[in-house]
Amino acid sequence: MNALIEHETDRLRLLAWDDRHLAPFAAMNVDPQVMRYFLAPQSAEQSRASVLAWKAQFAEQGWSNWAVELKSSGEFIGFIGLSVPRRQLPFSPCVEIGWRLARAFWGRGFATEGARACLAVAFEQLALDEVVSFTSLPNRRSRAVMERIGLRDTGQDFEHPALPPGHELRPHCLYRLTRDEWKSSAASRAAAHHAAAPCFGKVDDTPST
Ligand SMILES: CC(C)(COP(=O)(O)OP(=O)(O)OC[C@H]1O[C@@H](n2cnc3c(N)ncnc32)[C@H](O)[C@@H]1OP(=O)(O)O)[C@@H](O)C(=O)NCCC(=O)NCCS
Repeated sequence: MNALIEHETDRLRLLAWDDRHLAPFAAMNVDPQVMRYFLAPQSAEQSRASVLAWKAQFAEQGWSNWAVELKSSGEFIGFIGLSVPRRQLPFSPCVEIGWRLARAFWGRGFATEGARACLAVAFEQLALDEVVSFTSLPNRRSRAVMERIGLRDTGQDFEHPALPPGHELRPHCLYRLTRDEWKSSAASRAAAHHAAAPCFGKVDDTPST
């Protein structure tokens, strides 16, 4: 069991999951715009299962997909974080950086800001060698976040095994960033400046599920 990692940026708090996050998370996961590049929206039960799984990862390893709140209002805006894909993928084993924000919070740079902070955690605190990210080819907004935070398109597109053969979302792109690349990049300087500040003042009430 490792120490819980929570962190913050200028505008965001990246926190372990609490019961107050569940309702807005479930609401986000039934929005067709948010779920445009997924096979289907998530039911309330699936949302609850995701949160339980991430709580267990926080309890076990100290990191996972963080619940993201705005510092200014305390509103839940979505998740940004690090995860180990459950499925075997052509480039497994790997740690993935990912994000999903409620529609009302797009277009304000929150995903980019939070993801930069997560890279700092990945490379400075967890000392990972590499982080990957992937999405279906037409997910332009997600690819733009990957590029803004310094990941490079490997050109190694692959068929995601969770989607049925022939499905329009099955072809995926793969982006990567190594720790060495990150250290020598402007992204790391921005992250070090803005982010990865530990977040104090919250009691860890994550149950070990
Ligand atoms: C992927 C997703 C998080 C990207 O959201 P986003 O709002 O495009 O990304 P950011 O939060 O980084 O914001 C960038 C936008 O804010 C603008 N912006 C405003 N202020 C900014 C700031 N301070 N810093 C950076 N960008 C800023 C940028 O110009 C950019 O504008 P654009 O809409 O013209 O592209 C969002 O589309 C989403 O949740 N999609 C559904 C879930 C999903 O597909 N997840 C990925 C699965 S792999």
